[in-house]
Amino acid sequence: MYRRPRPDLRPTSRPTAWTTAIALATGAALALTGAAAPAAGADHPHRPRIHFTPAQNWMNDPNGLIHHDGVYHLYFQYNPEGDRWGNMSWGHATSTDLMTWEEQPLALPYSDEEHVFSGGIVFDEHNTSGLGTAENPPLVALYTSAYTDSSERPGIQAQSLAYSLDGGYTWERYEGNPVLDIGSGEFRDPKVFWYEEGGYWVMSTVVATERRVLFHRSDDLVDWEFLSGFGPAHAVNGVWEVPDLFELPVDGDPDDTRWVLIVNLNPGSVAGGSGAQYFVGDFDGTAFTPERLLDPGPPDGEVFADFEDGYGGWEVVNDLDGDGGDGPFGTAPAAGTLPDQQEVVGYEGDRLLNSYVGGDAPRGHATSPAFTIDRDYVNMLVGGGHHPRSGEGGHASVDLVVDGEVVRSATGDDTEHLDWVSWDVSGLVGRTARLRVEDDATGGWGHVLLDHVVFSDGPAAGLTDYDWLDWGRDYYAAVSYNDTPDDARVTMAWMNNWQYAEDTPTSPWRGAMALPRRLELETVGGRPRLVQNPVDQLESIYGAPVYERDSAPVPGSGLDLPPAEPGQAYQVELTLRPGQAQEIGLRVHEGADQATVIGYDTAARELFLDRSASGDTGFHHAFTSRSAVPLPLEGGGVRLRAVVDTSSVEVFAAGGRATLTDLVFPDPDATGISVYADGGGGSVEDVTVRPLGPDPSGAAE
Ligand code: FRU
Repeated sequence: MYRRPRPDLRPTSRPTAWTTAIALATGAALALTGAAAPAAGADHPHRPRIHFTPAQNWMNDPNGLIHHDGVYHLYFQYNPEGDRWGNMSWGHATSTDLMTWEEQPLALPYSDEEHVFSGGIVFDEHNTSGLGTAENPPLVALYTSAYTDSSERPGIQAQSLAYSLDGGYTWERYEGNPVLDIGSGEFRDPKVFWYEEGGYWVMSTVVATERRVLFHRSDDLVDWEFLSGFGPAHAVNGVWEVPDLFELPVDGDPDDTRWVLIVNLNPGSVAGGSGAQYFVGDFDGTAFTPERLLDPGPPDGEVFADFEDGYGGWEVVNDLDGDGGDGPFGTAPAAGTLPDQQEVVGYEGDRLLNSYVGGDAPRGHATSPAFTIDRDYVNMLVGGGHHPRSGEGGHASVDLVVDGEVVRSATGDDTEHLDWVSWDVSGLVGRTARLRVEDDATGGWGHVLLDHVVFSDGPAAGLTDYDWLDWGRDYYAAVSYNDTPDDARVTMAWMNNWQYAEDTPTSPWRGAMALPRRLELETVGGRPRLVQNPVDQLESIYGAPVYERDSAPVPGSGLDLPPAEPGQAYQVELTLRPGQAQEIGLRVHEGADQATVIGYDTAARELFLDRSASGDTGFHHAFTSRSAVPLPLEGGGVRLRAVVDTSSVEVFAAGGRATLTDLVFPDPDATGISVYADGGGGSVEDVTVRPLGPDPSGAAE
């Protein structure tokens, strides 16, 4: 059987309420068919109100996104038998407005031989496949067959085809499957489109572990010919999954277009774990060429520690618990991977500091010789467990210590891939400092990897220099619709992260989709970048504003907005003006001891989403997080649009130039909304708060 290539996979139904409730709110008589028979009122306080969830069981990636005959189809990776990943099949839901969904019967069930992984659907209007007729052309799904041990090709992943002659409700598998097999166990996630200029179909796929996207062409969707490959490039500290290639006008000019290649990556994304990067460039019918390709690699500077010749002047303290072993650091830096460890990659030279000697359990610390900070940046490669100093329980961190105080701290991302961490220490030039590695974590991923510490004038090219669809923790497997009206490029994504997806505290379902977004290319900082906003259809579930304000000062004591009804989804739009404040922000899902914070840090010039005290964070050690996106103020302020549901927060900032999406699991009665300012007074402008979707009581509006 195929095993997911992810490091942290540890090894009845009352359905969703909001379809019914919105039907009530809009007065529309939605016929409910299929597996779900929604009842009024949510079955669980964390059941999203305006985001799609299956009535029950596990869901991951969106699949087969197509608009056809006025209907938006959403298929999805689904386990028909359980609330964890497995038995992969395609579930199905439909919508006419992208906001209210009707769950349909299972579209493509798994079999003993074949699990049905992610893929796409096209409308074969001219019946090029011959699978329909000229009068009734088929919808054709290209999906990945993940062959099981009971099949003739155990462990192989190949691309297969299924077709529907009734508009996507029932599906037949093609007899000649698979249609594209390269003998790989990591070849998946086909997304197909009609390449108008060349008059043929183009399919993007990944060879996941090679961090490579492949392009193939076909005249009939059955015979596929190799065109080219792209990658590895930019973020590669994980597997590449779910690619998508499409063309968009720049700044709305139809004569000036670019091609966008989305590549989802797990783990190793900018916020940690799963995420979606993208490249902007050209596709000439054969190959994709990005306009901007950054070279990773060590930055210039003074190498302070490379661990090639022993620990040098570092003071290493092993065996803090007195068990007699020489862990966690051993007597010399490790020559790469240690026994019982997943493969360690991404370090420079032959050796690195690897605190996995004796496994995760041993505790200890290692301290560098003192040095004077004389360059603006400390750059280094860091990997291992995600156990920040600020988190609960033992930490596993690399710290910068000045006058006995920790002034900077880094931790890993639950992966054995090292990646660059850059600290801006320009404010500390002239001070004496030491680096200190503390391995105080004894459980899973309780170790640190460190290599190649370089003092430089600038930061290492790293994750924050690449382009990302979202800078939060929960936006994965993003992929776009085919055949939308007006060629709108609309994406859906699984609002989750493989790090903890199987542990999220919801039942009887597990997994939600993020809001559908409209993508556009806009010139920002001299190059075309994606700008993303919720689709306009969000306005169809707008309630009347419950709070409006042109402007208001935000004193140190804060500004309270009216609390939400428990269980009510809502949107807050406002401009934050830091003024004299070091930090200004919005708190949502606020209770006595908890809040999710959307804040602007003036000195760091970044917008952040902090869920470290957002409610239930304890179900997985990697859940606690603060994610940030670099974002300059415009005219002294930053415009925010925050969509808050019972278990998620999505932030669209600066007109959609930056987005942050996080799951949260607050107490149902944590309904407070407020604005705060720290270190000085600020202000807010053009504030509107409005409910979204159904009234939680189930009453019509
Ligand atoms: C992405 C992914 C895909 C695969 C599917 C299996 O989350 O790993 O690569 O097709 O999930 O469920």
